[in-house]
Amino acid sequence: MAERVAILACVHANLPALEAVLFDIALQGIRRIVSLGDIVGYGDHPRECLTLLKDVDISIMGNHEEAIMFYGEDFNPKARESLEWTQEELNSPSFSREENQALWQQLGIMQQVVEDGDVMYTHGSPRVPTREYVVPADVRNAEKMSGIFDMVKRVCFIGHSHVPHVYTSDRKHASPDALSGAIDLRNLGDRKILINVGSVGQPRDGSTAASYVTFDGDVVRFRRVGYR
Ligand SMILES: [Fe+2]
Repeated sequence: MAERVAILACVHANLPALEAVLFDIALQGIRRIVSLGDIVGYGDHPRECLTLLKDVDISIMGNHEEAIMFYGEDFNPKARESLEWTQEELNSPSFSREENQALWQQLGIMQQVVEDGDVMYTHGSPRVPTREYVVPADVRNAEKMSGIFDMVKRVCFIGHSHVPHVYTSDRKHASPDALSGAIDLRNLGDRKILINVGSVGQPRDGSTAASYVTFDGDVVRFRRVGYR
């Protein structure tokens, strides 16, 4: 069994949600954290959320980080407004130049895909790391799913859609509830697996509780954390 890791995504600058999740992670004695991107965007605490996740073990770039650094033309008006507000916030004259620079540097070193043995981490999908969505209807798209799984050695953790879900290379899929909140990868045989960890700050699956997973190398456990 490997050292346990907490894997989270799509905080979206929601500080109360992130604090609740980090507390839940600490309560379990987990020290390693992987962030799958979109720490910023939509919410009003980008600086605080970036700072809380400054020292995570792996930090993946989401489409919102990519957009505030490079472009955001394809964002809808509301997302674009939040993108511009976030850019201004990270350049706020209320903070020193060094503090602002440190936040931009943190964004600049985020990676699109990280592989750790046979475990892959990315934001959207291995094919188009910051942008491609994988949703349950995709199991009917054999070309898309086989293209994605061809790039995965055994397991790939993603975020981006804000819906916690599991997909296997035999084109089956399941919600965390259908799996009683956990999946033991030792039962997969030769199948590969794609695991969406859901969203900390803006879940889109009907529950407002923050979502993330823990992983010990064998078992993935989905967790939900309520917050105020
Ligand atoms: Fe995203």
